[in-house]
Amino acid sequence: MKEDIRDKLSLSHDDVLDLNFIRKPGSYVYRRHYRMGLRSHIMELLSPEDLGKENHGVVVEGLKTFPKAKPIKMLRIFRTKFASLTDARQELSRVKIVEAYLAPAHMARSDEFLVSYLVGGKVELLLCGVQEYVEGETLDPWAALNEDHLLSFYKRMGLEGRESPEKTAAQWIRKVREKADHFLGRLRAMVMEAGHVPDLAGVGNLLLTAGGEIKLVDINNISTVHFDTRIALDDRGYPVCDKSIQALFHMEQKLLGRPFNSHDVIRKTFLDPGRVRDVKEAVERFHLSVEPPVDPSLPATPLFSSQLRLNRSRRCR
Ligand SMILES: Nc1ncnc2c1ncn2[C@@H]1O[C@H](COP(=O)(O)OP(=O)(O)OP(=O)(O)O)[C@@H](O)[C@H]1O
Ligand SMILES: [Mg+2]
Repeated sequence: MKEDIRDKLSLSHDDVLDLNFIRKPGSYVYRRHYRMGLRSHIMELLSPEDLGKENHGVVVEGLKTFPKAKPIKMLRIFRTKFASLTDARQELSRVKIVEAYLAPAHMARSDEFLVSYLVGGKVELLLCGVQEYVEGETLDPWAALNEDHLLSFYKRMGLEGRESPEKTAAQWIRKVREKADHFLGRLRAMVMEAGHVPDLAGVGNLLLTAGGEIKLVDINNISTVHFDTRIALDDRGYPVCDKSIQALFHMEQKLLGRPFNSHDVIRKTFLDPGRVRDVKEAVERFHLSVEPPVDPSLPATPLFSSQLRLNRSRRCR
């Protein structure tokens, strides 16, 4: 019997073509993205011509190069097994809320669709998305995010000496901060008006582009924000709502230099010192739960646990 793709560690081109809702032979090549998460399969949609150039090279002015094929789109296949259509619709409506506040400037827009997935003789609900590909560097929301840090992005992206409206690093950094101001303002509005927050805490969920925009790419694990003392945990036991709000404050402080406002209701609720301590303990419990104790007498760690550990390292602080 065929394995449910939601349980597979990773997918190949053939696995995607094998899906009952994908047209065959199709015009694209599907390749697993080199960065990965836990909740979704992230597959690059590539043109066969681009892949041909990557594999066999192109000769330009006598010089052979192997340009990396750039995804046309990203195919997201959500691993969650929905108990009902209502649950799946709720997930979709959360994505719509985030989109209303962040798209198009601060989010990789995704055309999400629910499909009937045939597996093991049954029809299951599967959530997929065809998402805009974002070319950019991972912005760790817990990093220093100071002048030097932003300068390192400018250099790594090869922006020095490139023809662009921002002639100097200082101008580019100013632009990043201006755009960050807008992004963080939209996030605040989402928390206050819509009572939702996306997962800002995981490393890899935010990308910084050469144009200076911060873009959210991880559109799953969106939390409802409750202004009470309860610390909500996600399906894996991580206090994602609290950590996302802490990440929002960290970015506000570091990217905008914004001082704390003592009347701010988000701050009063989520940055209360006792609550921050409890959240820290919840994070420690999460780490212990995903990392089984190492016993040399046991056989090698199963693959899925090592993937969990990978995700753990992407959730710092
Ligand atoms: N549209 C995109 N463009 C570029 N990179 C992307 C895109 N979508 C995802 N990625 C990268 O792929 C990796 C995994 O993505 P993502 O965090 O969305 O996965 P996930 O399985 O839904 O989430 P998680 O397990 O973190 O809850 C991330 O490092 C992210 O930067
Ligand atoms: Mg993620």
